[in-house]
Formats: sequence, C-alpha cells, structure tokens
Amino acid sequence: MKVLGIETSCDETSAAVVDQKRGILSNVVISQIPLHRPFQGVVPELASRAHFKKIAPVIEEACLKAGIKRPDAVAFTQGPGLMGSLLVGRVAAETLGRIWDCPVIGINHLEGHIFAAELEGKIRFPLLALIVSGGHTDLVLVFKPGQYRVLGRTRDDAAGECYDKVAKILGLGYPGGPIIDRLAKTGDKNSIIFPRPYLEGTFDFSFSGLKTALLYHINKRLKRPMNAKIKSLKKPILTPGEISNICASFQEAVCETLVHKTLDAAQKFKIRQIVVGGGVSANSRLREMFIEKCQNQQIAVSLSSLKLCTDNGAMIAQVAIHKLSSKTKKRALTNKSDPALPFKNWA
Ligand code: KG4
Ligand code: ZN
Repeated sequence: MKVLGIETSCDETSAAVVDQKRGILSNVVISQIPLHRPFQGVVPELASRAHFKKIAPVIEEACLKAGIKRPDAVAFTQGPGLMGSLLVGRVAAETLGRIWDCPVIGINHLEGHIFAAELEGKIRFPLLALIVSGGHTDLVLVFKPGQYRVLGRTRDDAAGECYDKVAKILGLGYPGGPIIDRLAKTGDKNSIIFPRPYLEGTFDFSFSGLKTALLYHINKRLKRPMNAKIKSLKKPILTPGEISNICASFQEAVCETLVHKTLDAAQKFKIRQIVVGGGVSANSRLREMFIEKCQNQQIAVSLSSLKLCTDNGAMIAQVAIHKLSSKTKKRALTNKSDPALPFKNWA
C-alpha cells in the first residue's frame, strides 16, 4: 500500500509518499518561515495563501520523486492547526481522491508526530510519547496505534511557544527554538537558575511562569521595574555573552522539566519505550538529555532525524497506513477539518 500524505496545518507545505513495506519514497517540505519572519510569528492569512500557491507543485514533486502515477490512498491533516491552512490540504486531498478514485482519510497531526518515529526504526508498544511542538506539550500513553491515554498537557504555553516568545523578548528572531538552541551552545547553563515548573503530582506542564521569570531577570539586569513589559530587546542592550548565558539557562530549565516529567511517567506506568516528537524534539540539549537519562534507566528512546521532527507529510501518511489496515470500523467518522481536533481513540 502506498499513501500520499499531505500536511498543511501551520507553516510548512508538505507532501510525501510512504509505502507500507518500503517506508518513505519521497518527502517534500516547503517552509514558509521566511514569509512569516518579519512578523516574528505565523500570520494565518499569509500561511493559507502560501499553502494554496505551493500545494499542487509540492504534491506533484512528491509523486514524481516516488515514481508513482497514483497512490492507493490520500491522507491529509485534519487538525489541530490553522483553519484556512487545514482547508487547503483537505480540498487538495478530496479533489485528488475523486480524480484517482481512492480513499481519502483525515489524520490527527499529533498522532503524526508520534508515528514519525516509526519511519526510521521499530518502536515497541506500549510506549510513552512526549509531543513537543509550537502548539502542544502532551504526554501520551500509546498502547497501540489508535489506543491512547493522555496523561498530561500544558496548562498555558507549549514548549515551542515558550522558546518562540523568549526569543522575541530577547530580540533574536523567528522561529526562536533553533536560534536559542544554537546560542545556548556557547553559554553557561548554570549561570542563572530559572525555575523548573514540575507541578508535582500531575503530568501537566506549565511554561508561562518560566517566561515571566526570564522577563524579571532581564528587568533586574536593566534596573527597570520588575513587571515592566519588554516588547523586544534591541540587540546592543545585553552583551552576546549575556544572551548566550540566558539562552543556555532557559533551555536547561525547559529540557530538565520535560525529561524529568516524562521519566517519572515512564517509571509510574512501567514503560520501557519513549518516543519524543514535534519541532522541539529537534533540540540538541533535549536529545542529549533524553539519550543520557534513558540509557541510565535502560529505557529505549526514539528521536527522529531533524527533518522528521518538524511538520512533514510522511508522518501523516504513516498514521494513515495504520488506520487503513486497522479493523476498527469507526476509524473514519468524519474528515471535517478541526483547528482544535481532540486526541481520540479510534474506537
Ligand atoms: O512541530 P512543529 O514543526 O510545528 C507545530 O506543530 O507547531 O514545531 C514548531 C516549533 C516551533 O515553536 C520551533 O521554535 C520549535 O518547534 N523548534 C525548536 C527547535 N526546532 C524547532 N525548539 C527548540 N529547539 C530546536 N532546535
Ligand atoms: Zn507539528
């Protein structure tokens, strides 16, 4: 079975062909980052227009690279995401489904981030998935494809959102994650001790207090009132050394929190396999920490290659392969696009 996967939930236009037996045959990703950079964040209207412009050539290229004329099914991201962007992917998928006379199947983006791990190696169930992206920080027990139990999620900012907001405060640019990751490499992670928001007794996350602590730190350094709002720092105010130290210390607090809570959950539910997915799983310190701690506890950890951490069509096709081969009759209740699509069991 060959599935064409279409991903247009946010700021990447992507199409990929995945073969059930041979894996990824093609995975074309066009990033809209340069388009949104001047606004320091994704502008929904610009995103949907850009998806509309690129979707046909991206799909054409994916099929050409995979050497196929038509797939056996078309999958697209149903949600969560930006409504206008999601609709572009759905319309493309449904149009092609009619032309090719093949099944069309809507996929939850977050399930995609979990199953991206499977495109590069075997994963064993039950597993614990940490999904860390621009919009989500979810800790999910995965018993098998389609059977989940959400243990916790963020109560405010998602991990990626926190990276992006902190980068904005420091005047570093967009998206913040990769920039902070790079600058942190030359900083001292122990120079500032930011709070670790563990929220003991729950598996929920909360990162907005950490962002405020960073803001207070900068205000103190600039001798401003503690609660003074900083829109965006002009570069010369802090030295490059200070900025690197702030980035390294902030990153340490985020990564320690994510790893600590994930390992706690793994211990509680006696899980031996962890999967980390979503854009923030590309973070070098987070990867290093997970590898080290999981090795110590003899837990297998699956971290995708960088191209499969961020949004891509291959992960959408991979979930579709599971859904199409599952015996669950209720698997495709609706293909309706939903910006707040909940994480649901298939039956
Ligand atoms: O999964 P993704 O591509 O899109 C969403 O579904 O949101 O994740 C994008 C997020 C952004 O917030 C970006 O700053 C973050 O992932 N990100 C990173 C890194 N690369 C991307 N965060 C930390 N370190 C990175 N290296
Ligand atoms: Zn994503």
